[in-house]
Amino acid sequence: MRRSAIALALAAALAPPALADEGDAMLSRVGAEMFQQYCASCHGQSAAGDGPAAGALRTPPADLTRIAARRGGSFPDGEIARFVDGRFDVPAHGTREMPIWGRKLGEAVAEGAEPDEVARGRILALVEYLKTIQAK
Ligand code: HEC
Repeated sequence: MRRSAIALALAAALAPPALADEGDAMLSRVGAEMFQQYCASCHGQSAAGDGPAAGALRTPPADLTRIAARRGGSFPDGEIARFVDGRFDVPAHGTREMPIWGRKLGEAVAEGAEPDEVARGRILALVEYLKTIQAK
């Protein structure tokens, strides 16, 4: 009885970080699949900016393995999520060639699902994946 209580307390103390890591890993696997489906045409399968559609764009698609490198080594989750979403961006100059993913990823969601939440979850997974492929 006593032993199992200790084991239980130990499991509770250890579980949250372990589960959080597991959750991130799962999210990034989902993101990796979505990346190949939605992003690789422009950014390339390895995200280096060399997808088959890249040549047709006026702005070259960014090398997404260097997001952190371009920012002095830190990866700004929020900024990247907002950029990918695109609905809240005020274009600084010219037209944006990146699709507005916040809209597209909320399309064709299951009945009863909230499109906005689905889109946000998908973008979160994509950002989690992008974090795992940053050049060191
Ligand atoms: C139609 C081509 C195209 C597709 C598809 C595309 N992108 Fe892009 N992306 C671009 C271009 C072009 C840029 C350069 C910035 C701009 O829009 O002018 C860019 C820039 C970015 C940036 C900014 C990088 C930085 O360092 O600021 C991120 C992040 C990004 N894309 C993520 C994605 C993700 C995630 C997807 C898939 C959901 C995706 N892109 C799909 C064309 C594309």
